[in-house]
Amino acid sequence: MKGIILSGGRGTRLSPLTKITSKQLLPIYNRPMIYYPLNTLLRAGIKEILIIVAPERAGDYLNILGSGKEFGAKFTYEIQDKPEGLPQAFTIGESFLCGDSVTLILGDNIFEYDFTEDIRSFRSGGRVFAKEVKDPERFGVVEFSAAMKVLSIEEKPKIPKSHYAIPGLYIYDHRVVQFSKELKPSARGELEIVDLHRKYLERGELDVRMVAGEWVDAGTFDALLYANNLAKEKLAKNLLF
Ligand code: TTP
Repeated sequence: MKGIILSGGRGTRLSPLTKITSKQLLPIYNRPMIYYPLNTLLRAGIKEILIIVAPERAGDYLNILGSGKEFGAKFTYEIQDKPEGLPQAFTIGESFLCGDSVTLILGDNIFEYDFTEDIRSFRSGGRVFAKEVKDPERFGVVEFSAAMKVLSIEEKPKIPKSHYAIPGLYIYDHRVVQFSKELKPSARGELEIVDLHRKYLERGELDVRMVAGEWVDAGTFDALLYANNLAKEKLAKNLLF
């Protein structure tokens, strides 16, 4: 199992903060934001990690994270020239992945949960997670049966079929590269991660598991503030470095 941290994007909702640095390098209490998703992968035993960044900020990431040696891991870097959607992570990462399974985490997603067991038990197909939220219409939404069978997946639905959002950590087998190449941009001109999930869903090979504990998508000012307080109170003690 290899890991990818997708850490590009525009960060327009956090402007003007993101005019001076990358969103995922902004401070969350006493660490740059990316330390949290990095910690999530490392604590789950993933040591080979590709970090995908925007061209303007690549030097900052290299300065802060380096080879990975300090973290007991090996880091590889790639540039995403334009933020054209999350599934690009897999086409950009094709040579890094080299036919292996992958866990993708978004650089602005902060989890309290430990994914070790979910990653160790993964064999093939696709695996997404579900977290109950008050405002599912802001997220990818998953509907599932009592036996945790995925029934539907929708991106930011006006009338959500459940209260379960799909957080920004996804596990896929090697076919993810080919499936990503087959995707077409949506009406907003991006490749959509929900369309990738559907490739596995329509083959009956997508499963879903619950995420316990706190989850923050730190892409707005309120979420950023919340994440800072959460890190101080709870999360900083889980950090390995
Ligand atoms: P978003 O928060 O959806 O987008 P953004 O970071 O560009 O922010 P904004 O909407 O405020 O402009 O992205 C989710 C995460 O994925 C975030 O960590 C950035 C990353 N991302 C990329 O690295 N490349 C991409 O093409 C996209 C769409 C997102």
